[in-house]
Amino acid sequence: MEFCRTHFLAILSLVLLFPRTTKGWGEDGHAIICKIAQPRLNNAAAEAVQNLLPKYAENDLGRVCSWADHVKFIFPWSSALHYIDTPDNLCNYQYTRDCKDENGLKGRCVAGAINNYTNQLLSYGRDSDSQYNLTQALLFLSHFMGDIHQPLHVGFTSDRGGNTIDVHWYTRKTNLHHVWDDSIIETAEQRFYDSDMDGFIDAIKKNITKEWSDQVGDWESCDYTKTTCPNIYASESIKAACEWAYKDVSENSVLGDDYFSSRLPTVNLRLAQGGVRLAATLNRIFS
Ligand code: ADE
Ligand code: ZN
Ligand code: ZN
Repeated sequence: MEFCRTHFLAILSLVLLFPRTTKGWGEDGHAIICKIAQPRLNNAAAEAVQNLLPKYAENDLGRVCSWADHVKFIFPWSSALHYIDTPDNLCNYQYTRDCKDENGLKGRCVAGAINNYTNQLLSYGRDSDSQYNLTQALLFLSHFMGDIHQPLHVGFTSDRGGNTIDVHWYTRKTNLHHVWDDSIIETAEQRFYDSDMDGFIDAIKKNITKEWSDQVGDWESCDYTKTTCPNIYASESIKAACEWAYKDVSENSVLGDDYFSSRLPTVNLRLAQGGVRLAATLNRIFS
């Protein structure tokens, strides 16, 4: 009995000392986007995804959508591929100006990564043994399509997309970036869906078929010469970052009900667009 109690307390203190740290949208944001996308796949894409997913995913893309966050440490080169830093206060994005890493290497940003992994996946079924690991390409693409839709993943350089802006979420100390990765989603799930992610997903899917049905075709479409259009998604993100995420926020702001209820519609929209566009991109890749 005492043995169990001691172990329980040891594990509890470990959990409290090392809370789940997530980057990108949190686990839930990424899972939501992938779970919106997968049922929208055409037959060719559904079959390719089933073939490429690792066995442990059990043909559920939602289970592996955060894989790219867990491999930042074993693949340090991939860290810069999750975001884009844009010039402070400009509120726009240009690929040639902004898509680079901290060393100035061109194309090393989330938009460049989406183009790269899309191109790798286009070799599926063409090259009997492709030089690429197409399972990793699928997991990276599915994750980065989520990240590019998180407004603060296309944020200002000096605050690292809100990471250095300390705020309170209600009474809890956090930073603005984390509010957009996790807190708004978690609060919505707790308040409206009994902490059930599937309830939140169903509500977003309903909006896609009803409220937003006349816009979905525009979200999906892309220059006819291209398979995916990350520059459009990134431009929308920095615009939303300025209009909603950064707006009326400064160091040590207390963000509560007003911020939550005015920003939740933007979070819903970006999760929906991320899911719809991941499916549209995979459908074009594998058709
Ligand atoms: N690191 C630097 N800028 C970042 C951003 N916009 N999002 C996430 N991590 C970052
Ligand atoms: Zn990420
Ligand atoms: Zn993030």
